[in-house]
Amino acid sequence: MKFRKFLAAGAGAALAFTLAACSGGGAGSETDSTGGGDGGEMTEGGLIGVAMPTETSERWIADGDAVKSGLEAAGYEVDLQFAADDIPTQQQQIDNMITNGADALIVASIDGTTLSGQLAAAAEAGIPIISYDRLINETENVDFYVSFDNFEVGVQQASSLLVGLGVLDKDLNETGDEGPYNIELFAGSPDDNNAGFFFNGAMSVLQPYIDSGVLSVPSGQTAFDQVATLRWLQETAQKRMEDILTATYVGTDTTLDGVLSPYDGLSRGILNALEFTGGYPATIAEGMPIVTGQDAEIASVKLIADDVQFSTIFKDTRKLAEQSVTAAIAYLNGEEPEANNTTDYDNGVKIVPSYLLESDIVYADNIQELLIDSGYWTEDEVASGQAS
Ligand code: GAL
Repeated sequence: MKFRKFLAAGAGAALAFTLAACSGGGAGSETDSTGGGDGGEMTEGGLIGVAMPTETSERWIADGDAVKSGLEAAGYEVDLQFAADDIPTQQQQIDNMITNGADALIVASIDGTTLSGQLAAAAEAGIPIISYDRLINETENVDFYVSFDNFEVGVQQASSLLVGLGVLDKDLNETGDEGPYNIELFAGSPDDNNAGFFFNGAMSVLQPYIDSGVLSVPSGQTAFDQVATLRWLQETAQKRMEDILTATYVGTDTTLDGVLSPYDGLSRGILNALEFTGGYPATIAEGMPIVTGQDAEIASVKLIADDVQFSTIFKDTRKLAEQSVTAAIAYLNGEEPEANNTTDYDNGVKIVPSYLLESDIVYADNIQELLIDSGYWTEDEVASGQAS
């Protein structure tokens, strides 16, 4: 066994967490080897470092909070850090976690290839490393990956674009509408392993329609390198959309019908450009092009409710956080976490065992069911476009 500490308290806390998760509480008695009260409040389970990329996107704040509270409920101490999307900051935060005696690391990387030094040190110290949502690349020192089925997320994004255009119905069957429709393509950050999965998944759906002439991309920009958006920045996407509109659409007869956007932050930049540079009306009903998204960020959920953005992809970060907590606890308990994918996530050095979750397409008419009824956002938050 390669991991350093299998503390009795850690094992007890792990079991307590599992039992608490199953029974909704009352888990303490048979696991409480420390005599320190009920299982949910044990504090000797160890220290877990949680490294998140940025606080500028609300999803990562929610992820960080959910992982922290899940671990704390299981009796662990948590060192949660956000790195302001700055690679040296994230490297330093992870160095500090190792120095401070972390027993496990949960890492959502900024750039999936820049943490090799830190992770080698962690491995040397026997610290298990869980890659959170974004795969850490080019190192053997990553033990497990928790994420969503990222290729499928891209498939869903492209499918929702086709639904918005009218080529597919909501059951994703062809309607017989053959367009032609003009679309433009955006992808995420090229240093984020997920961005390629999203784009490849989306293109697996769109390419046949491009080939058959139902869709065309008037800018001619269809390669990942041409459409990628470094660091997922809203303003970068807005600028690229403005440039495309100015070069290809404004002052011509060419009308843009839809935009593949892989993330809500980018979608908001794209929508700004469409309205203010492209001169498109503010709502889809009036002629705003169909714009997709991802993450069900609250500002974008409101835009969907208001008929401005067409769709987003809901990835329930509460489930992802729970999965990472389960994996960390398994390691600290001397076990291997359960994987449901052992083929798809090759990080350049090895195939990383993964647990992948499912995502859903959000449209205006299922916000209630997917986001409000599930408790992800409240009705007031959707109405105001702000997290409370
Ligand atoms: C990706 C993540 C997406 C989105 C994006 C921008 O790695 O999978 O859900 O959050 O980063 O933050």
